Amino acid sequence: MLKKIVLAIVFIFVIIIAARTILLSRHSPPVTECRATDDDFIPLSDSRLARFQRALQFQTVSRDVGDYNRDELQNFGDFIINSFPTLHNSSLVEWERVNNYSFLYQIKGNKRDLKPYLLMSHLDVVPATNLEAWEAPPFSGNIVDGFIYGRGAIDVKQCVMGILESVEYLLNNDITPARSFYIAFGHDEEVTGSHGAKMIAARLKEKGVSELEYISDEGLPVSEGLISGVNKPVASIGVSEKGQAILKLSVKGVPGHSSMPPKESTIGILAGAVHRLESNPHPSMLGTGVETQFLEHLVPEMNFPQRILVANIWLFKPLLSWLLSLKPHSDAMIRTVTSITMFNAGVKANVIPPLAEAIVNHRIHPSQTVREVIEYDRQLIGDARVNIEIASSIDPHPTAGYGNNDFGYQVFKTTIRQIWPSALVAPGVLIGNTDTRHYLNFTNNIYRFSPTHMFPGDAQRFHGLNERISVKNYEQVINFFFHLIRNSDQPSLSPVHEHHDDL
Ligand SMILES: *[C@@H]1O[C@H](CO)[C@@H](O)[C@H](O)[C@H]1NC(C)=O
Ligand SMILES: *[C@@H]1O[C@H](CO)[C@@H](O)[C@H](O)[C@H]1NC(C)=O
Ligand SMILES: *[C@@H]1O[C@H](CO)[C@@H](O)[C@H](O)[C@H]1NC(C)=O
Repeated sequence: MLKKIVLAIVFIFVIIIAARTILLSRHSPPVTECRATDDDFIPLSDSRLARFQRALQFQTVSRDVGDYNRDELQNFGDFIINSFPTLHNSSLVEWERVNNYSFLYQIKGNKRDLKPYLLMSHLDVVPATNLEAWEAPPFSGNIVDGFIYGRGAIDVKQCVMGILESVEYLLNNDITPARSFYIAFGHDEEVTGSHGAKMIAARLKEKGVSELEYISDEGLPVSEGLISGVNKPVASIGVSEKGQAILKLSVKGVPGHSSMPPKESTIGILAGAVHRLESNPHPSMLGTGVETQFLEHLVPEMNFPQRILVANIWLFKPLLSWLLSLKPHSDAMIRTVTSITMFNAGVKANVIPPLAEAIVNHRIHPSQTVREVIEYDRQLIGDARVNIEIASSIDPHPTAGYGNNDFGYQVFKTTIRQIWPSALVAPGVLIGNTDTRHYLNFTNNIYRFSPTHMFPGDAQRFHGLNERISVKNYEQVINFFFHLIRNSDQPSLSPVHEHHDDL
């Protein structure tokens, strides 16, 4: 009898595991690929290429809040206005400079009942260092072996210029969009966006905009070799951003002479607390959020053992969490991570330290809140002598819809696959933060994606040396935005229902 029950249970497990593995292995239906022979393909002409190279020459560097290169931002703005004469003088367009250097455009569609959307980007860049180690100077826009070099080539002047080129093309070809849209270029994204994006968002509200269909901003790229065993490019659309909490831990004591020490010093107590935080990571959130969907979307391309594991997180969560925690980038996907970034204590070699302080930086998984993370720390530390103070914090952003009936997500997915027909599109979480924090009141549907094709080793070029984009990729960027705008013109999606989502 018992044997039969055990066998029956094993049988049911095997059926569920097999069913999930098979169902999640289905491929997405094909889309019509964007080809250079299409009527609406925008070729990278010499003048389009030259405009992008010129854009990379403006040293629109942000150093700190309020500390950015105003002259260069002014020049870059003037260059934009002069380079796209149709956009800046079309009856369909209202535009303005916001807080001197940022830009806001409204492109008026002819179906006013459709909710507008917003394309965001930013004009500033981070500083360039180690100039001698660059293969071409960082503000040259020079082309070496098919790559255009320059600070901002992938973060993110390719999107600024790609959006402008595609809209100029649209207007020059007398295409009136059906759905209205806005374009917002902030000028200090690299230093919190408090002068740029924040002001644009306020201006947008002033203009009476309260709700947007979706927002597009820079984010995750199209990556090759992201996950071992998955050989196709993976295009992940950031549907949320991790939150952040910067905590200041402190322990106060009574100063005294080192010849008569107390049993425990402030340094000893704080070191113990910090050690407990570092050696006890926050729990794996695998199975609760977007990271699960991300992995499940890659199932069709995984090898058989990977497929069985990922299709059955309900069963294999502990094993899979352990595997993912082995590498920092996949560990960051599944949990709130903890970095001890500063430790200060002591005043003199023979004085008992009166104060010890440490800074802890958490990046918070979207399934948790700042409050929960601090509560968890408090219990881990388990020592009331350690004072915990929030230096700054932001909860993870709400998660945008990524289902079959979520308009913005599906428009992104279709567009990505038109440009990269072999790409696997999956929802993901952005580990950093962008200007989108200033636009959270307009919609939950914020999609963070950069149409940049990245190969292993390219990630270090962000804010690093030899930032570059291939000539071919820049042409894809322009056509990506053009197709995104065209695809956004449909009034709604035809409702689809796939069994797939019922699991
Ligand atoms: C802008 O357009 C108007 C008519 O629509 C035209 O008279 C004017 O010359 C144009 N200005 C520029 C700078 O092209
Ligand atoms: C914008 O320009 C005005 C006039 O030159 C100046 O007073 C103001 O500080 C500028 N704003 C910013 C953000 O630089
Ligand atoms: C969103 O709206 C709330 C309530 O009006 C306001 O307190 C908050 O500052 C707004 N957030 C942003 C990012 O503008």
